Amino acid sequence: PEGFLEVITGPMFAGKTSELIKRIERQIFAKRKAALFKPSIDNRYSEDKVVAHNGLSYEAFVVPTTEEGVRTIYQKTKEEDFEVIGIDEVQFFPMSIVEILNKLADEGVYVIASGLNLDFKGEPFEVTKELLALADNIVYLTAICSVCGREATRTQRLINGKPAPRDSPRILVGGIEAYEARCRRHHIVP
Ligand code: TMP
Ligand code: MG
Repeated sequence: PEGFLEVITGPMFAGKTSELIKRIERQIFAKRKAALFKPSIDNRYSEDKVVAHNGLSYEAFVVPTTEEGVRTIYQKTKEEDFEVIGIDEVQFFPMSIVEILNKLADEGVYVIASGLNLDFKGEPFEVTKELLALADNIVYLTAICSVCGREATRTQRLINGKPAPRDSPRILVGGIEAYEARCRRHHIVP
């Protein structure tokens, strides 16, 4: 079996989840045993589906963003003998997911992890950062800056239409009501 670690990253509204679903679907068409996992923190659109901002959705195993959740991903993959697994919103899991996904790739699984590059402050999400270093392939997606229309690599958090301050909590689940994709120039952290 050919293990492989692939990381899909970029800001919000770049199409990361759609890309992940697309890659899993291609594998399923080829009759490979594939599964999607997502953290239970992300309940924006569905409890048991991975759903992209464009409405594209796919059934998934929902796992908690704890050590237990990370172990579940490993055990489930082994039990069911999945050849391909996708993990959405990987940045929400504890650091231990990095070695687990790398180990699964070593053991022959094609692992596709999708996650944010940076938080709203422009600081790297550690899990994604480590996975990028270990990746066999990186799919770096950009969005469109909502201010100038250039390529966006960052995510702006807005509270009542204003840039969120630096002391805003790191985790805030949301969509277009709270976030915009922005280029370097138009990304603001007061
Ligand atoms: P997405 O990558 O599928 O668009 O979803 C990103 C999720 O992460 C979304 O629920 C908003 C959340 N988020 C944070 O919790 N903190 C952040 O700093 C950013 C940028 C997003
Ligand atoms: Mg997504």
